[in-house]
Amino acid sequence: MNQIKRELQVTADGSHTLFIPEMDEHYHSVNGAVQESRHVFLEAGLHQLDQKEITVFEVGFGTGLNAFLTLLDAEQRQLHVTYYSVERYPLSMEVIQSLNYGELICAERKACLEALHEAPWDTPVSITDHFVLHKIEGDSNQCLLPKEIDLVYFDAFAPDKQPEMWHQEIFNRLYAHMRKGGVLTTYCAKGVVRRMMKEAGYSVERIPGPPGKREMLRAIKL
Ligand SMILES: C[S@@+](CC[C@H](N)C(=O)[O-])C[C@H]1O[C@@H](n2cnc3c(N)ncnc32)[C@H](O)[C@@H]1O
Repeated sequence: MNQIKRELQVTADGSHTLFIPEMDEHYHSVNGAVQESRHVFLEAGLHQLDQKEITVFEVGFGTGLNAFLTLLDAEQRQLHVTYYSVERYPLSMEVIQSLNYGELICAERKACLEALHEAPWDTPVSITDHFVLHKIEGDSNQCLLPKEIDLVYFDAFAPDKQPEMWHQEIFNRLYAHMRKGGVLTTYCAKGVVRRMMKEAGYSVERIPGPPGKREMLRAIKL
């Protein structure tokens, strides 16, 4: 997939996303990439936690959009986030530099977005006083998971496009590595995914999705 063509597209809120013609799949919602990321991962995930020290595990680092928004939020709300993110197919610098997230989201802090991408893989890097990044280059189905995860951003390509990312074993493993009270959030609302989460032990709710999507899933380890 590293060699696969990715096209830059503008979504409804003016933010970019990438489209993979060969998969007929986007990295984000065409109804607004930044809007979706804020809704699904920050509002339905990060903002549900009470504590100030938070360990995040993301499936699919991709464009770094979720990481950048989380870094800015951590600064604003004085959180300390340790952010693990696994990515099997890192993007080239050329593609990364074509994305408009820095300018669009927070021009004064766009150096942080660059730092997220420039950070070496497979080692923790302190990006700000509030945000430590640990990018893992590899397969989310194989990689070691951090212990005591508070929050999972499950941001894989859709189950019908990449079914190998959505299976019982991964939800069981994530459940086992999460703290009690931990939250897993995803844009996906499929019944089959909800059932796998329940089977893993989570309490699962369907909640309103971002624009263009009626519902999404949030799973909690009670
Ligand atoms: C829907 S995109 C979202 C990416 C990212 N969260 C963002 O906002 O740009 C899914 C991501 O999962 C990555 N991916 C695909 N297969 C993977 C695997 N087996 N393990 C880890 N990441 C994978 C893709 O390369 C892509 O970056």
